[in-house]
Amino acid sequence: MSLAAPRVVTISDLRRLARARLPDAVFGYLDGAADDEVTLRDSEAAFREVYFKPRFAVATPACDLSVTVLGQRLELPFMLGPIGYSRLMHPRGELAASAAAGKAGTAYILSTVSGHRMEDVRAQSQGPLFYQLYLAGGRAAAEAAIARAKAAGYKALFVTIDTPVAGNRERDVRNGMKELMGRNPFAKIPYLPNILAHPRWLAAFLADGMTRPFPNIVIPGKGPLQAIDVAAALESAQVSWTDLKWIREIWNGPIVIKGVISVDDARRAVDHGAEGIVVSTHAGRQLDTVPGSIRVLPGVVDAVKGKTAILFDGGIRRGSHIVKAMAMGADACLLGRGYAYGMAAAGQPGIERAIEIFTADIIRTLKLLGCPSIGALDSSYFSLKHGFRAD
Ligand SMILES: Cc1cc2nc3c(=O)[nH]c(=O)nc-3n(C[C@H](O)[C@H](O)[C@H](O)COP(=O)(O)O)c2cc1C
Repeated sequence: MSLAAPRVVTISDLRRLARARLPDAVFGYLDGAADDEVTLRDSEAAFREVYFKPRFAVATPACDLSVTVLGQRLELPFMLGPIGYSRLMHPRGELAASAAAGKAGTAYILSTVSGHRMEDVRAQSQGPLFYQLYLAGGRAAAEAAIARAKAAGYKALFVTIDTPVAGNRERDVRNGMKELMGRNPFAKIPYLPNILAHPRWLAAFLADGMTRPFPNIVIPGKGPLQAIDVAAALESAQVSWTDLKWIREIWNGPIVIKGVISVDDARRAVDHGAEGIVVSTHAGRQLDTVPGSIRVLPGVVDAVKGKTAILFDGGIRRGSHIVKAMAMGADACLLGRGYAYGMAAAGQPGIERAIEIFTADIIRTLKLLGCPSIGALDSSYFSLKHGFRAD
């Protein structure tokens, strides 16, 4: 399948191909968000309220895109963020993401809710890898995962704090995501026509052994957690600020707090010694009607810039979005659906195509801005629409 232009010009073209390949249950899981999806829409729309201020007739010979965050040099100002159930979207899911990130000289953050063993994911890439931690399965399961992550050479832990309970994703309910994950074959029957209408995905899913337990959430005495049990496991093992203390005792690398959407939480993360934060709404999949995360970034930058690494995600579908976030003070960005659409459409080549689109976009945008490098971006390159900020 060709992923070149004119078939694939933008990330939304990869989204279209993902929609065609995936059954509604899986596409809705990837594409959807909570409740009325207000935050989801605002995440992308808010970028339109950040206006560029270019400098023309300025030479920008070779734009340097590299950044150094969490002690790692990345060739690109974005990394690939954690996407749960990636293996459901494509059998090579997390392996493909890790390999594509490493090839591009950037980092991949592996989700706790991963279908592949973290050691196998590590083996796919020469680039830095980070591990995203949920406490699903309890402290003993988390401790075992942290020990494995350390042994396998993961460089930082991303502790996601915005998931005390799974968000209300109504597309998942309508499309039978739970039934697809579940053990009862009869419950799947109403959804079969749609699944059968997506034979390429179905053949890959069957060949991959269908739904598998999560190999990085191993509950002592019980074994790996089943996919269907994840929501309940998340709810019964909520993370709190006090957990950071024991995580610190067993993990000596950087800790990043993922899911900061207020200045208060940004300050709290700094007070707890976090080496980084991710300003993120979890793709609008948790609490709906929190603002698109880019609206919160200026306040967070004012409060904690220089005290902790500020990472940013949410609604990034173009390289210019990354340029805006970096100019506003982010130290690096995370892609979510921006690469996952490519993964769902075509596996590793799809992710590589997404990375290529973002990279070309960023270089072009920097040149049009008259800015010589990602590192040279600052507040002189943009202005905000009145009322943009959500502190
Ligand atoms: C399908 C899907 C699964 C996700 N799974 C996780 C996860 O397991 N852990 C986590 O911390 N964030 C998870 N996220 C959030 C992403 O890491 C990231 O914050 C978000 O996707 C960024 O927004 P964007 O998709 O609009 O770019 C998930 C997002 C999506 C879309």
